Amino acid sequence: MTQLFINIKELIQVRETTIEKVSGKEMGRLPTLKNAYLRVEDDLIVDFGLMETLQKKTADKTIDCRGKMIFPSWCDSHTHLVYAGNRAQEFVDRIQGLSYEEIANNGGGILNSAKKIHQISENELYQQSAHRLQEVIALGTGAIEIKSGYGLTVAGELKMLRVIKKLKENFDTPIKATFLGAHALPAAYKNNKDAYLELIIEEMLPKIAAENLADFIDIFCEKGYFDIEDTARILAAGKKYGLIPKVHVNQFNAFGGIAVSVAHQALSVDHLEELTQEDIHALKGANTMPVALPACSFFLSIPYTPARRIIDAGLPLALASDYNPGSAPTGNMNLVMATACIKMKMTPEEAINAATINGAFAMELSHKVGSITKGKLANFFITKTIASYHFLPYHFGDNLIETVYLKGKKMSL
Ligand code: NIG
Ligand code: FE
Repeated sequence: MTQLFINIKELIQVRETTIEKVSGKEMGRLPTLKNAYLRVEDDLIVDFGLMETLQKKTADKTIDCRGKMIFPSWCDSHTHLVYAGNRAQEFVDRIQGLSYEEIANNGGGILNSAKKIHQISENELYQQSAHRLQEVIALGTGAIEIKSGYGLTVAGELKMLRVIKKLKENFDTPIKATFLGAHALPAAYKNNKDAYLELIIEEMLPKIAAENLADFIDIFCEKGYFDIEDTARILAAGKKYGLIPKVHVNQFNAFGGIAVSVAHQALSVDHLEELTQEDIHALKGANTMPVALPACSFFLSIPYTPARRIIDAGLPLALASDYNPGSAPTGNMNLVMATACIKMKMTPEEAINAATINGAFAMELSHKVGSITKGKLANFFITKTIASYHFLPYHFGDNLIETVYLKGKKMSL
């Protein structure tokens, strides 16, 4: 089926040829076409251009977009969208004075989510997660990464990863699965970290590989969680099974986790609220995408990732939601992008690049999504009537998305 979108006020993130990512000054450039058309055949973008150059006017369906803009879908490269229940009580506890660290030390935090994963059936976990995925799709997300990491036992991690696999099968959005067995030390291994790492390496990884349940491997490299040696060990073990590293690092402390991740050819390093000059140095010349998670900084009231230092050093930067029940209970990429502009001093152009093509890179999906390019998936959204694309971050609390298309199919929102 051919669909022709006409009179598009502005077609955003138009790339004639596929690019992998944008870095440094290039992030400030957002190519667009004003008064444009877009042609979609089945699930793919096949053509676009200025209305005045539109020749083939026939299509099975023509959609008039007067006054509205089309964006490529948001590419959310870091989420924990598969989880059970909620941690609203911890939110209230923090308001009343407890810190994220104190809550974790009292058996809350990641271990609280792990308890809930063990109590829930795989089917119910799927239902809760599918509902969240539908919600973020309605908010413009058209490619997403989802992590395990709330299981922390062989059965729990497999349960989460099987749910992610089922989401992959049932949804039109590209999904990447990340194995995050090393998210926290489960209570049963409290004084025996080595035994837990062994469990991950000797039992979890072979099973995950046998069922082909993960694309990437992650670890929470942080004081009180896992150190540099653990990180090197887990990333190397994952690699043996073809799992590419994406690492939680520098959230609260900077102690060399970025250099280790880069040495293991990490696809991305995520969080980076704390960042040293050595970290920036390690990222230069690497093919690793720094990923900022401003919704987490906002929710936990911790520092924001220093986007200006990263971009001004010539590096790329991606934005992701970190959607999870403890530190970022939102998957709204519009809000993430707006927060990056307001709090991290990213320009709208930089933020849009960070939330589309650079997010796609951080999932190894640059060839499929992240820009309006011929041959890419027809994953995009149509805005309401807006004056300029600046309105998305400017009206930070509003939903300016009217229609969502995934693989050329209009989603019911
Ligand atoms: O990215 N930092 C570690 N992991 C998650 C949140 C974990 C949680 O509190 O559930 C994060 O913020
Ligand atoms: Fe996270």
